[in-house]
Amino acid sequence: MYEGFKKDHVVRIKDFTLDEMSTVFDLAEKMIPVAEGKKKNDDLEGKLLATLFFEPSTRTRLSFEGAMKRMSGSCIGFAEPGTSSAKKGETLADTIRVAAGYSDIIVLRHPHEGAAQLAANFSDVPIINAGDGAGRHPTQTLLDLFTIKREKGSISGNHIGIAGDLKYGRTVHSLTNALSMYDTELTFISPPSLRMPDEITDALGRKGIEHKEVDGIEDVLDELDILYMTRIQRERFPSEQDYEKVAKTYLIEKHMLEDEMCKEDLTIMHPLPRVDEIAADVDLTSHAKYFDQAANGVPIRMALLKLLSEG
Ligand code: CP
Repeated sequence: MYEGFKKDHVVRIKDFTLDEMSTVFDLAEKMIPVAEGKKKNDDLEGKLLATLFFEPSTRTRLSFEGAMKRMSGSCIGFAEPGTSSAKKGETLADTIRVAAGYSDIIVLRHPHEGAAQLAANFSDVPIINAGDGAGRHPTQTLLDLFTIKREKGSISGNHIGIAGDLKYGRTVHSLTNALSMYDTELTFISPPSLRMPDEITDALGRKGIEHKEVDGIEDVLDELDILYMTRIQRERFPSEQDYEKVAKTYLIEKHMLEDEMCKEDLTIMHPLPRVDEIAADVDLTSHAKYFDQAANGVPIRMALLKLLSEG
């Protein structure tokens, strides 16, 4: 049992203490050689992970399954709910009760906000929220913070610009909640119709954390240490016309990062998938860290699986 980690489930980043996050980061650091396949590990031998994905995923599902297998565990599950008995009308609560009887840990992605909490209420084994609708994505936040820590040396002390769909993007909701536990300067960059929800900015206000809201990336780019880009979440808009009004609002291109236009050590992050908000010519610049960020998902998820299975 790790003294700094006392969780039964991972549902919201708000449920983590700074100590618990530090425990995850310290263990993840040690797991990097295992994640890269350079060191053998059998900490999860005999354990079974169920990945129940009711929404599409590349990174979250593959990195959880990869993490489990690199630690000698096994996986069951589905990536397409149409092949599960949800298609026949089985409730989420029943699916979770059954999967809990088959596995040691469940990773759940679901289109409905609150689904992970509901699953935790019905599960005898740990539930990990892998994204619930426009709600939360806590394991993405842990890997985002881990990436910032590795790139910048610390999380506190950075001016972080969060850009794109701040209304429907669950990664930025969890990230903002987590950053409010550190000493950072925050700027939210979005079209007026996609601002960060009041619930989240009000919580920042109550904690006395300063933040500003701007429409354009260029309004603030030269001040930022980190630019966290996000995709406009097409699938969560009420209609295609609503989406078209804000689609392609932002595009970062290499020429925007030259000379005095941004800090020399600006770090650009993105939870991915990107659609058209970061041009391919940015990938080869020293600013682009989004593929390193995605790779950091494996050691972070290894750490979580180990902590939950030993807890
Ligand atoms: N960042 C993220 O959650 O990616 P996937 O949707 O591919 O899992």
